[in-house]
Amino acid sequence: MRDWEPIAAATGGSIASTTQVHRSPIIEVPMARTPFLHPFARPAAAAEEFITIVRGEGALVWDDQDREYIDGLASLWYCNVGHGRFAIADAVASQMAVLENYNTFDIFTNEPAERFAAFIAAAAPVPDARVFFTSSGSEAVETAIKLARLTHSLQGHPERNMIVGRTNAYHGVTYGGLSAQGLPLNQEHFGPLLDPVIRVDSHDLAELEAVFAEHGKRIAAVIAEPVQGAGGVYPPASGYLDRLRELCTEHGALLVFDEVITGFGRLGTWFAADFFGVVPDMITFAKGCTSGYLPLGGVVVGEAVLEVIEADPAFILRHGFTYSGHPTACAAALENTAILLEEELFDRVPAIAEHIGGGLARLVDQGVLESSRGVGGIWAGVVPEGVAAVSVRNAMLERGVIIRPIGASIIAFCPPLVTTDAQLLHCIAALEGAIADVS
Ligand SMILES: Cc1ncc(COP(=O)(O)O)c(C=O)c1O
Repeated sequence: MRDWEPIAAATGGSIASTTQVHRSPIIEVPMARTPFLHPFARPAAAAEEFITIVRGEGALVWDDQDREYIDGLASLWYCNVGHGRFAIADAVASQMAVLENYNTFDIFTNEPAERFAAFIAAAAPVPDARVFFTSSGSEAVETAIKLARLTHSLQGHPERNMIVGRTNAYHGVTYGGLSAQGLPLNQEHFGPLLDPVIRVDSHDLAELEAVFAEHGKRIAAVIAEPVQGAGGVYPPASGYLDRLRELCTEHGALLVFDEVITGFGRLGTWFAADFFGVVPDMITFAKGCTSGYLPLGGVVVGEAVLEVIEADPAFILRHGFTYSGHPTACAAALENTAILLEEELFDRVPAIAEHIGGGLARLVDQGVLESSRGVGGIWAGVVPEGVAAVSVRNAMLERGVIIRPIGASIIAFCPPLVTTDAQLLHCIAALEGAIADVS
């Protein structure tokens, strides 16, 4: 059977308060498994294992059974301004009505992309920067790795092609970022990976110094999340990022901060580079730049790269994505940025630190959690041995809170910046109750 009907009717959900204007083909969905092969999920999972999210507002989302959840992970570390922002929907609709998209390869451009690039270049702590746009964090990382190699090659050093990454790092799923990341399970079966890549312990400065001493002249770039997110929420050891900057400068390697999670307010600043007072040569961003309303990412590119790639007027940068500088995605980003500024949402970060960070510390003191860590608006609690993080996740869902379990024991929080104090407190109460439920 093939016909068209509104999504609201097709899901059978109770979403009366939403305006569903888009249409969907009516196709019988087999119950055993869904035709949608889900990312980072078990392909063998049965259809009924998935929760269908139908609606969102602020820090809340609802499923098709009309169950309400506090979105304790801002979906997937991205929804900084919260859900249900009609101003962003309007900005997107207005842009689409005039020009949905037009490519930005030589010789075209568009105003939203130019304006958003100008905004980021001014906001980022990288002097005289320019911005390369992508549609995702993985593409941004891939771009930064290619720009690093390109820069050294144009300077007559193609042998300087080694990438240094850190344990517990997550840099996306395409081959550059997959190879540079430090989560071996994600790499299993996908080899051969990009070469040469060296992985260092994410906190061990002595190991970093040793790698520079041995390979200094071969290192194209070091890529580092200032606060490691998806790998388990690890803030940097004191002085680590400063020393990393010094080592890169001493040895002529480029420093890339992967700020796909930390960019656009997660630490109460536009970039974590501001927060830690360390200036990298490139910054990758995505997620929070549109709060996920449309896919957009990019790379802030600093002078060390620009002065090399701009030197020869005839040189062509043979890298770009069909949707680089997509005007509708950039219109969403501009509105998202305006909301962050007008509502002074960075000022909410201390409340997240107080209620989530402080709440986790209290649970550690009470012996409910093994340990906790985090900074600004991103936190994690480690559950005791014998308690499975996935079971805690499930018990928290029952209590109306979404978090992300990482590995066997980590519970990650990264709530929208609009989450109220009461909602933040409820997240911690739900964690405490969930651990009691499953212990
Ligand atoms: C630090 C970091 N880099 C890169 C990525 C990949 O981004 P995307 O999933 O948009 O490709 C992520 C995604 O979580 C990330 O956290």
